[in-house]
Amino acid sequence: MPIAHTTNAPFVATADDERHYYAVQFHPEVVHTIQGVQILSNFVKDICGCAADWTPQNFIEEQVTAIRKQVGDGRVVLGLSGGVDSAVAGALIHRAIGDQLTSIFVDHGMLRFGEGAQVVETFQRNMGMNLVAVNAVEEYLGELSGVTEPERKRKIIGNKFIRIFEREARKLGEVDFLAQGTIYPDVIESAADEQSAAHTIKTHHNVGGLPDDMQFQLVEPLRWLFKDEVRRLGTALGLPDEIVWRQPFPGPGLAIRCLGEITWPRLETLRQADHIFTTELRARNLLRYGTAQAFAVLLPVKSVGVMGDQRTYEEVLALRAVTTEDFMTADWARLDYDLLAHVSQRIVNEVKGVNRVTYDVTSKPPGTIEWE
Ligand code: XMP
Repeated sequence: MPIAHTTNAPFVATADDERHYYAVQFHPEVVHTIQGVQILSNFVKDICGCAADWTPQNFIEEQVTAIRKQVGDGRVVLGLSGGVDSAVAGALIHRAIGDQLTSIFVDHGMLRFGEGAQVVETFQRNMGMNLVAVNAVEEYLGELSGVTEPERKRKIIGNKFIRIFEREARKLGEVDFLAQGTIYPDVIESAADEQSAAHTIKTHHNVGGLPDDMQFQLVEPLRWLFKDEVRRLGTALGLPDEIVWRQPFPGPGLAIRCLGEITWPRLETLRQADHIFTTELRARNLLRYGTAQAFAVLLPVKSVGVMGDQRTYEEVLALRAVTTEDFMTADWARLDYDLLAHVSQRIVNEVKGVNRVTYDVTSKPPGTIEWE
């Protein structure tokens, strides 16, 4: 029988208390449903009788046992990207099996300021993990030379990653397991991809597509977790806030934020400008709260400017900051004018190669979050 209605929908929610069937015709899980979380909580706790006793600590204990059981005395290899998911997976698996895990971190030269060093610092020095850090900058830049088309950039970077990862993994000798930081939204997304023939808007790269003759079994301890749970777990495992609260960063990295041709000097320009922008945001707590993604984009467009009494002719830099819950739609962040003025001034004064800064005021749709 109906238990809720609106003026134009007679069956907004229905219940069959005897058989314990309940249905809603709206989406309690979306942000716009004001009491959505309460509805779900009532359902899960009061109707289904779940205890809601998930804690990172329980999860760690449970997974440490499960990973040890799965892996036995086998060897595990993990690709660390510097992002939250692979970092937390690495820390958790390391807690379970220590030196049986080897992590591979490929520096493709398109990371943000200080990122590569931080991965080595956190995992190798602080946690004592077996880490193979590969400097593949020259290799990547060589292959990307002259490439300006966004999808080709992605393909080259994705394929190259797989080749390098494979090469390094083979050097380790017999490896039985491949660990991945797959989280529940990835599981849902790949299931949806398989079901629909929806054409790729952008090809996202992760560690799929390893050659068939590398027969690994998968270790994916975060498979049933959402991002907020992964973050809580990361903190409980002792990872620093800079990693746990890192904003999403695309696999191809700065390559798709360096529009036009990728060269080392242009990447350096972009890296420095991005560092200034994110440092100023972080100082105001706007990276963790207030923006979901914030970054700089270097445009292959030159404009005239004036510095002292000199005429300049340099590239344009765009700042992009968005708010979003799900990254499917997004709004541009209404950053404070004084903050934008300060960041713009610092970038033009401190970064070689940029003489003009713009702020992107396009929402998604019709824009995308990234520029390529
Ligand atoms: P767009 O630009 O499509 O981005 O609005 C949505 C989210 O996806 C990220 N993104 C990528 N992530 N490889 C990735 O791993 C990619 O090629 C890629 N392209 C976009 C983007 O940063 C945003 O979080």
